[in-house]
Amino acid sequence: MSDRRIDPVTGTETTGHVWDGIEELNNPLPRWWLWTFYATIVFALVYVLLYPAWPLVNSATGGVLGWSQRGDVAEEIAQVEAAQAPLWTALEETPLTEISAAPDLQGFAVNAGAALFRTNCSQCHGSGAAGAVGYPNLLDDEWLWGGSIEEIAYTIRHGIRNEEDPDARFSQMPGFGEILGREEIATLVSHVQALPDGVDPLSGPGGEIFANNCASCHGDDAKGDRSMGAPNLTDAIWLYGNSDARLVKTISEGPYGVMPPWGARLGEPEVRALATYVHGLGGGEETAAGE
Ligand code: HEC
Ligand code: HEC
Repeated sequence: MSDRRIDPVTGTETTGHVWDGIEELNNPLPRWWLWTFYATIVFALVYVLLYPAWPLVNSATGGVLGWSQRGDVAEEIAQVEAAQAPLWTALEETPLTEISAAPDLQGFAVNAGAALFRTNCSQCHGSGAAGAVGYPNLLDDEWLWGGSIEEIAYTIRHGIRNEEDPDARFSQMPGFGEILGREEIATLVSHVQALPDGVDPLSGPGGEIFANNCASCHGDDAKGDRSMGAPNLTDAIWLYGNSDARLVKTISEGPYGVMPPWGARLGEPEVRALATYVHGLGGGEETAAGE
């Protein structure tokens, strides 16, 4: 540019840019700044060469090192899985009743079972397994279908009253709304409410109706029958509640609790981990009833 000149005060060349009579001096950039700037350019070029950088349609350019964060995570997961593989195999091969004799295996099964429980079971049975109306508490020693580790595993593997698994546990209480009159049901409700207080299940007017309609499943002693999933009615533990209204509904309509099967969904070792976890929650029994 033609109007560059040497500034008389500083002795520096001007750029020729003038604003309002103020001229810009063409001072050189500081050395350190300039070299840092070149260094960042070199760094960027090297980085683009070595690491994933330019976004493409589905991924990014790979970089000559072939590194990726995703690959790192996959490798770590593979390592953990490889470390756990023998334990899962042992879990599948050890008879259920012998797992407790191998503390390492049991510890692994309980931890894995707890994690599986949180993901798959807690929405129905509660995060602490304490259950809710219609969903049994798995912490107590009241069992509908049995509390030995083998019975628990069977229940988890095949589920209850579902149509997905032909081996599901199955027994159905009929609704008595059409079979019994309202008066009879009201009499039964008071009778059933009094059972936990020690009333003889077969005595009195309620006892007669009970003997004729209910004892076949719940037993003459009203203590239930696990082969049918019929609950003990004398223990003050109510799956569906014991208010008048609840009991009228339960007896008139017949309860129909459904539990999904998990064997096909999760796999046998996972079922065993869950059974070990549930069995260890407090209500687990040593042997199957009748053994
Ligand atoms: C969709 C809800 C639902 C889910 C999810 C569910 N359950 Fe259940 N479970 C039930 C119901 C309902 C019953 C009671 C069925 C009955 O009344 O006979 C039950 C019963 C059981 C029993 C038998 C209890 C007894 O007293 O004999 C066990 C054990 C059990 N569940 C474990 C599990 C485990 C372990 C999981 C997770 C893998 C799970 N459940 C997931 C609904 C569920
Ligand atoms: C065919 C067998 C069968 C007969 C007969 C039967 N029950 Fe049941 N009962 C069951 C089963 C199985 C359950 C559990 C169902 C479930 O959890 O879904 C049950 C559950 C109940 C419950 C719920 C208990 C709770 O903890 O909330 C009550 C109450 C009950 N029965 C009362 C009766 C009365 C009263 C009669 C007679 C009028 C009767 N049952 C007849 C099988 C039977």
